[in-house]
Amino acid sequence: MSDTVQALLWRDAPQGGFLQMIDQTRLPAVFEYLNYDSAESVAEGIRGMVVRGAPAIGVAAAYGVALEALRLCNTDSAHDFAAALEKGFSKLAASRPTAVNLFWALKRMRVCWQRHATLTPSALAAALLAEAKFIHEEDIRINRAIGAHGAALLPDGARVLTHCNAGALATAGHGTALGVIRSAVSAGKNISVIADETRPFLQGARLTAWEMVQENIPVTLITDNMAGHLMARGEIDAVIVGTDRVAANGDVANKIGTYMVAVLAHRHQIPFYVACPLSTIDLALASGDLIPIEERAREEVTGYRDYQWAAQGVSVRNPSFDVTPAELVSALVTEKAVIHRPDTKQVAALFD
Ligand code: MRU
Repeated sequence: MSDTVQALLWRDAPQGGFLQMIDQTRLPAVFEYLNYDSAESVAEGIRGMVVRGAPAIGVAAAYGVALEALRLCNTDSAHDFAAALEKGFSKLAASRPTAVNLFWALKRMRVCWQRHATLTPSALAAALLAEAKFIHEEDIRINRAIGAHGAALLPDGARVLTHCNAGALATAGHGTALGVIRSAVSAGKNISVIADETRPFLQGARLTAWEMVQENIPVTLITDNMAGHLMARGEIDAVIVGTDRVAANGDVANKIGTYMVAVLAHRHQIPFYVACPLSTIDLALASGDLIPIEERAREEVTGYRDYQWAAQGVSVRNPSFDVTPAELVSALVTEKAVIHRPDTKQVAALFD
């Protein structure tokens, strides 16, 4: 299905099937798929960041709904089936707040449910599974289209900084920001990647660096606070990142630290590109200050895994995302088109 690493795999089985997700909390030291068989377990996998990245979260949530319907297939009363499935939706919706793809996918699954409301539970479960599989495959096609559009923005020889991981691991395959890089490389361009480590969860150091190394795409790891130095020395030609939610005016929420990189890129007149599917655009929110920002556990900041380096008793903030205003975005790269200097009018036109 995909020529890149697959963060999510559906496994058919006599009793319906199950979902496998690479445990991204353990990469790159351990490459392991974990199995999921209910909405609750998938919600836990999303919350605990076994699966992460906006499009991958959406695909996982779609499978979570299908798994729940399969699990409930033998419920006798239609009312009890509907009530239990509704609980599954609620658990998934409560897993992480910022990536709008989660809510987009749940809405698609709800529309599917409504369309097939008169079916028996097992026929409905089959329809929901088919929809989840479709969302999964569609995301790969979309990422390839994003890559094809975005590749033209990167000149041959470009040294490209990326923040967090917007790669195959963050999607159904190919990736958004890393998809653009992959497509540029496939087109014969000589591209090298500068991955910042992305404190505190280290998606850059652990995941982006790993993905690039797997495919022999040249990658250099830096700490987050080195970006300005390299930009000032002329060692970065472009920045490309993914996003968890784009507001109607083109403001983008992405992994904490993205705003800092965008400000630096602006200061050094380096193009700052954002790649995402249309499902990441939330026309219901007029501007980025309305995007809900997830706050995660203090332990992610005070140490890593079992090791704690911060002083006991210190107070901690851990906002997991920040908002980059549209004025700092050189272009938004979607499967439909590339829009330069995004604003409300251009973003709306993507949906015409
Ligand atoms: O907290 P995470 O790892 O889920 O954050 C992921 C990001 O910020 C990605 O850049 C974003 O979801 C785009 S993924 C194609």
